[in-house]
Amino acid sequence: MSVVGFDLGNESCIVGVARQRGIDVVLNEESKRETPAIVCFGDKQRFIGTAGAANSTMNPKNSISQIKRLLGRKFADPELQRDLQSFPFRVSEGPDGFPLVHARYLGEEHAFTPTQLLAMVLSNLKAIAEDNLKSAVVDCCIGIPVYFTDLQRRSVLDAATIAGLRPLRLFHETTATALAYGIYKTDLPENDQLNVAFVDVGHASMQVSIVGYKKGQLKMLSHAYDRSLGGRDFDEALFKHFAAKFKEEYKIDVYQNARACIRLRVACEKLKKMLSANPEAPMNIECLMDEKDVRGFIKRDEFEQISAPVLERVKGPLEKALAEAGLTTESVHFVEVVGSGSRVPAIIRIITEFFGKEPRRTMNASECVARGCALQCAILSPTFKVREFQVNEGFPFSIALSWKPDSQNNEPQQTVVFPKGNPIPSVKALTFYRSNTFAVDVLNVETEDLQVTQKISTYMIGPFQSSKGEKAKLKVKVRLNIHGIVSLESATVTCNTMSYHLPLEKHITSL
Ligand SMILES: Nc1ncnc2c1ncn2[C@@H]1O[C@H](COP(=O)(O)OP(=O)(O)OP(=O)(O)O)[C@@H](O)[C@H]1O
Ligand SMILES: [Mg+2]
Repeated sequence: MSVVGFDLGNESCIVGVARQRGIDVVLNEESKRETPAIVCFGDKQRFIGTAGAANSTMNPKNSISQIKRLLGRKFADPELQRDLQSFPFRVSEGPDGFPLVHARYLGEEHAFTPTQLLAMVLSNLKAIAEDNLKSAVVDCCIGIPVYFTDLQRRSVLDAATIAGLRPLRLFHETTATALAYGIYKTDLPENDQLNVAFVDVGHASMQVSIVGYKKGQLKMLSHAYDRSLGGRDFDEALFKHFAAKFKEEYKIDVYQNARACIRLRVACEKLKKMLSANPEAPMNIECLMDEKDVRGFIKRDEFEQISAPVLERVKGPLEKALAEAGLTTESVHFVEVVGSGSRVPAIIRIITEFFGKEPRRTMNASECVARGCALQCAILSPTFKVREFQVNEGFPFSIALSWKPDSQNNEPQQTVVFPKGNPIPSVKALTFYRSNTFAVDVLNVETEDLQVTQKISTYMIGPFQSSKGEKAKLKVKVRLNIHGIVSLESATVTCNTMSYHLPLEKHITSL
């Protein structure tokens, strides 16, 4: 049995494996710890990971990146539409309303679903783990953003199945970080609670969690996030700035040329990284377009000015996480930053001002999610003996059930079965008195915040027999499983002393 953790980033992926002496991050075929999350389709073959990234500037239209952004979302989703404006590859609406990604592969046009593309990335990560462990890898834990909806979670599980993996858990990225932080701590208080805020700024999103630690356990006190605030937004601000500048100075419009766009974006990302360590940085690109070499220059102050709209949004998730945890900044003992996007100095300044204390970088900012996932896999797997450490996870959304009462004229009834913060996993039982087959809907409560449809799935319960003129008593079990997916598990009819299970017919909503 394998014990592996995968951090599936929007930009890069990391593979952690459990060995008898601890968790290791393993190297890919290029001896790198980070593997780009890119699939590049060529005329003769397909390149994934490091090779995919190496080929992407030559072949931008067939290089598919940021697959996590496309997963489990409708084509019409406004956030997806915004993302598509900066992607060099073509995406269309499939017959089911979900996106299809187009690429030229082996001399032919192909259309892939985001799930298929994610499966390719996962297969590559699986192969990296297998090369290192010299054995088959099936059991694993996969990191997912805390804001992933039911459909996105199901898509990750589907992609994992296609790749031949069996996730023991889809594990929230911030919880993975919190576990990697806490499990080795020997000085956790026995009676008091140590409160730590984790801020993860990645490539495309920002997540904040506040965690309460006691000896041998952690409890997630709150989760907050901005799904569209990450390192790439700074690249985009720089990109727009330089695209306009070069148009004026060199009379070139990079928007008209996919290769020039991707080269300028790569240069902007490099520039942003330079500005994290230096007060100013140059930009030189040879032969960017129309055989023109371009030169530019920017100071950190100016960079912060042009990215002010992005920086203004950093405080939002911090405030929300603190409020939902019911804490004050004084009662948060430590602030830990992770995710490479947090290396922008202005972000650290905002976090410092907000909490009134310097954030710390106790952990390896890019590896902690993979390490936490590998640790969780080790805890769940019988293969390893891991130090006793309890992870009390809270579900980030509320889930309700809705049904129509037996009599025709009444309004549908609704009850929240798993309120926000509900422990994962969890089972609840509801009792119904019914004479006929009936439908129960599983619903998202915070539809606006998540930009999802309200209905997740519908279950038909029945048929069943009830004694004349009397309604049967039915017990329905609802499960919030370890991956954060809700389903109706069983329905049982009890009449006199007999009880029997009823058939459940399920329909997943894809509207
Ligand atoms: N020195 C640096 N200064 C500023 N930004 C940096 C630096 N190094 C890396 N980054 C940025 O960090 C981002 C990648 O961070 P990370 O690897 O944590 O993201 P990810 O896990 O792939 O994405 P996500 O968490 O959104 O799925 C990129 O936007 C990258 O440009
Ligand atoms: Mg990340």
